[in-house]
Amino acid sequence: MADMTRQKAEERARELRQEIREHQYRYYVLDRPTISDAEFDKLYRELEAIEKQYPDLVTPDSPTQRVGGAVSGAFRAVPHSSPVLSLANAFDDSDVMAYYQRVRSSSRPEDAPGFVVEPKIDGLSVILRYENGILALGLTRGDGITGEDVTQNVRTVRSVPLALRPGYPPLMEVRGEVYLPREDFARLNKEREEAGLSVFANPRNAAAGSLRQLDPSVTAQRPLRALFYEIRGDVNLSTEVEVLSFLKDMGFPVPEYDLCYSPDELLSAISVWDEKRHRLTYDTDGIVIKVNDRRLFSRLGATAHSPRGHIAFKFPAEQVETKVLDIIVQVGRTGVITPTAILEPVRVSGSTVSRATLHNEDIIRELDVRIGDTVVLQKAGEVIPEIVKVLKEKRTGEEREFRMPEVCPSCGSQAQRFPGEVAWRCTSATCPARLREQLIHFASRDAMDIRGLGPAMVDALLESGLVKDAGDLYFLTVDDLRRLPRMGEKSAANLISSIQASKDNPMAKLLFALGIRHVGLRLSQTIAEQFGSMDAFMNATPEELSQVRDIGPETVRAIEAARSQESLRRLLDKFRKAGLRGMQDAAKEEPVEGPLSGKTLVITGTLPGMTRKEAEELVARLGGKVSSSVSKNTYAVIAGESPGSKLQKARELGVKVMSPQEFLELSTDKETRG
Ligand code: IVH
Repeated sequence: MADMTRQKAEERARELRQEIREHQYRYYVLDRPTISDAEFDKLYRELEAIEKQYPDLVTPDSPTQRVGGAVSGAFRAVPHSSPVLSLANAFDDSDVMAYYQRVRSSSRPEDAPGFVVEPKIDGLSVILRYENGILALGLTRGDGITGEDVTQNVRTVRSVPLALRPGYPPLMEVRGEVYLPREDFARLNKEREEAGLSVFANPRNAAAGSLRQLDPSVTAQRPLRALFYEIRGDVNLSTEVEVLSFLKDMGFPVPEYDLCYSPDELLSAISVWDEKRHRLTYDTDGIVIKVNDRRLFSRLGATAHSPRGHIAFKFPAEQVETKVLDIIVQVGRTGVITPTAILEPVRVSGSTVSRATLHNEDIIRELDVRIGDTVVLQKAGEVIPEIVKVLKEKRTGEEREFRMPEVCPSCGSQAQRFPGEVAWRCTSATCPARLREQLIHFASRDAMDIRGLGPAMVDALLESGLVKDAGDLYFLTVDDLRRLPRMGEKSAANLISSIQASKDNPMAKLLFALGIRHVGLRLSQTIAEQFGSMDAFMNATPEELSQVRDIGPETVRAIEAARSQESLRRLLDKFRKAGLRGMQDAAKEEPVEGPLSGKTLVITGTLPGMTRKEAEELVARLGGKVSSSVSKNTYAVIAGESPGSKLQKARELGVKVMSPQEFLELSTDKETRG
């Protein structure tokens, strides 16, 4: 009988290992998990429990015996200086109490008291090495023994200091978390959905996908951030509190934390954080509790995969059940047809939800969601309602399968799914639903920022036939608007004046407002700076386009496709006729604001850890210009290793000479504060 159970346990353990490995692969390598973290934890705990009961069943290759993660092979593999451990999890108060007792039994009276409680940032762990204060290497955690070299990509993350502030040790390794703020995650997914690309399951996967781009310029376009919480290797600091404060002094952004002294304080900090985390800009899947005293931490030691002095308390993801009343489709501004589930309204994570995007056909198929199904709902990244799974056992047989329409629901043109895309698109360039979304985007805040031109007004303008494209907006009169239903003199005058005011927007905003695929706000700014005018941009060759920082081949194709459309040419003609500032030459474009605004610099010699091109880009990001020759008007010469005659010239002319450190510190100052 006992043997029977053992045999069953063995079988189940084998099954679980297989399943866990598969999910780890999806999570760490593909960045596309198919189950929630909570479900994963459940599988993992079940395996741990079996292995605890039957220690002889533990296999050396069991996922519980590994540090975790995987190396994808797409990046150079670099061994870590010491294993990068993970954390053991606590799921309830009794787990926390058990941890507390374990720590207590190893404490000595001379130890610094207390525990540091920090948010557990749901991002991607990175390990950064600074040599003589300069960022020299950035690795992902990988499998904990070997990481992936993502140095180039890490350098594009604004909150990562490229150089440390004075007082750094000659060699310093830190660990932190790269993440994508929730709002940016929501925006990125929306953009991807509109572009017919697959969406990220949560901010963590979005951050991982962004950081592990083969093309660093793509990473640069994603507004990644980072927080740092650990110094690796020997440091002369005796508490976690000192670690955080030293990190901060060095220029690293650090998480906020609480200091707790008793089990009661720990438990109440947990419940405070469970509430507070909703107000953070980033996703947290728990909090981390750390013994404050670093010697006590060492004394407690570690298992193969986690130190005993720290523990992660995981918050349960809030999940609710509801019913799918219908599945509808909507046409976006690029013609992508998006399916949306209409739900029986239900409250989850602080708001009532009555619809959830299903993103695309593949996701509907993967979930196997049907109209009438009972489903489990949660918010991805605390913001986007998503269906986690279908409760198939609750099916009655009345459920109806959904199929993507083969014609556009708005204009009846043929819909098509293009190879390599997950989306169906309306193929008509004049589809009214697309036009509607384009106009809404055109008027939105980051684009032309036309107050009073929201969805309802766009609908009214399109229905009346007064407006056929965004260009027509600029020829509207108060009298035209008065003809619209329920439009008073005052509102008509207000709208006309905000339309007129929008003429003054610079080229970058106008370009973004055009809604060309892949040409987001940041890239529009770069393009405006580089080409100086809309005409120059419209006439640039593909080669010239691809020389611009942040423009890859896919973006060149998208720009070419947009430029070849007659409708875009017509639109720009109208803008020109209406006298939009964005159509004029860009001498008037506002330069980037920064510590080097209006200054010209010259670079000589090699700068540690960066190519010449990267250095030039950094100067531009700080507002400055790079010139190749030194003159009286040069603000400074940045002198790297083996500098050339330019250094000599600078000295002769009395031009300021900057060390690479001084130069990098400028960027650190600008980009990590505030
Ligand atoms: S401490 C020795 N602190 O959570 C372990 N980790 O589930 C040092 N994480 O792999 C980790 N926020 O990537 C620590 N404030 C924080 C964290 C944090 C997020 C991640 C980290 C770790 C994972 C464990």
